[in-house]
Amino acid sequence: MSDGLEGVIAANTVLSDVDGLAGCLVIRGYSLDDLAGRTRFEDVAHLLFDGFFDDMPSDLTAALGAARVAVFAETAAIDAGLLKLTPVEAMRALTARLADGDGLDTALKLLAAPAVFIPAVVRAQAGQSLVPPDASLRHSADILRMLRGRLASAAEAEALDAYLVTVSDHGLNASTFAARVVASTQAGLTSAVLAGISALKGPLHGGAPGPVIDMLDGIGRPENARAWLEAALDRGERLMGFGHRVYRVRDPRADVLKAAVRRMSEGSSVLPGRVAFAEAVEKAALAILRDRKPDRPLDINVEFYTALLLEALAFPPSTFTGVFAMGRVAGWIAHAREQLAGGRLIRPASRYIGPQPRRAA
Ligand code: COA
Repeated sequence: MSDGLEGVIAANTVLSDVDGLAGCLVIRGYSLDDLAGRTRFEDVAHLLFDGFFDDMPSDLTAALGAARVAVFAETAAIDAGLLKLTPVEAMRALTARLADGDGLDTALKLLAAPAVFIPAVVRAQAGQSLVPPDASLRHSADILRMLRGRLASAAEAEALDAYLVTVSDHGLNASTFAARVVASTQAGLTSAVLAGISALKGPLHGGAPGPVIDMLDGIGRPENARAWLEAALDRGERLMGFGHRVYRVRDPRADVLKAAVRRMSEGSSVLPGRVAFAEAVEKAALAILRDRKPDRPLDINVEFYTALLLEALAFPPSTFTGVFAMGRVAGWIAHAREQLAGGRLIRPASRYIGPQPRRAA
């Protein structure tokens, strides 16, 4: 047995490869460095879906735009009860309204669902009117438009694309495994995606970037970093945005996102200062973690610069996990289809360590 199934291979996949010792991520034959910043999200979704659907068009832009428009109809169900939930919980509830199925039509609606529902919930929670999708826009530009009610700059849409591409797939992470387990029962793609969303929302997986902002805000100034971080570790807390189950070196996604934030910060009056501050915190945290855990290589993970990027794009921290889902949903769907195509029902065994049978009184 391996605690947390660490190192256990539970699936063959053509979708992505995470090399934790070299710090490399390959998505369907392309290094992340070659995709992020150069590719739109709909093109990476196409790359991931390729071969898993018979009727796939050569470009997903129009079909995904139409799917955004179709799922927007579900926002009519947003009521007072739903608005009391966190954005990711409300998005999960709205996604659960979509019918189950295994075809491309279901897949595209699921691909569109977090992108449409998260901006709608945030605006409804703020008492603002909802902004319907514009099917003619690229996915990232439309997400920002639905969130803000006005068109974002090309640089902002490109930065969001870089993020969505970066998180689109990542081996057999917890949410993808959860999605594959559900897919293996033939429950349908909607059920598999709902399992993925549920696993993603935990703070040890996709829930970390919000707390990264809390940490940066708590530290406030670079000179406070060391004392603040030491005190957090003394209280037994973990530093959010550091450590990873697979990477024993720097998470390659962190640098891709840092580069995207840097590109965005050109011409900004505040962003370069925020990046410099984050770098100072990163440096202090890495030095402290090296001192305290010399036997456990702990480096920065994707969530640290995710927090900075999404903050710069004006996503409220409460939406960060939902924005992660906007990208990772592509991977969940592709893995669910791959599991269905070749996989058996996933049903591991457990070792019983409870009391031996007793005679009932
Ligand atoms: N801050 C401080 N210590 C950390 C740490 C962090 N972020 N991450 C791991 N550690 C320490 C643990 O306390 C443990 O120390 P111990 O052996 O003295 O008890 C040791 O490193 C190993 O931790 P373990 O829980 O076995 O690692 P894991 O592989 O299960 O954990 C994470 C991976 C991601 C869950 C973990 O690093 C974490 O909680 N990080 C913070 C949350 C985060 O950023 N999540 C996003 C992941 S992309």
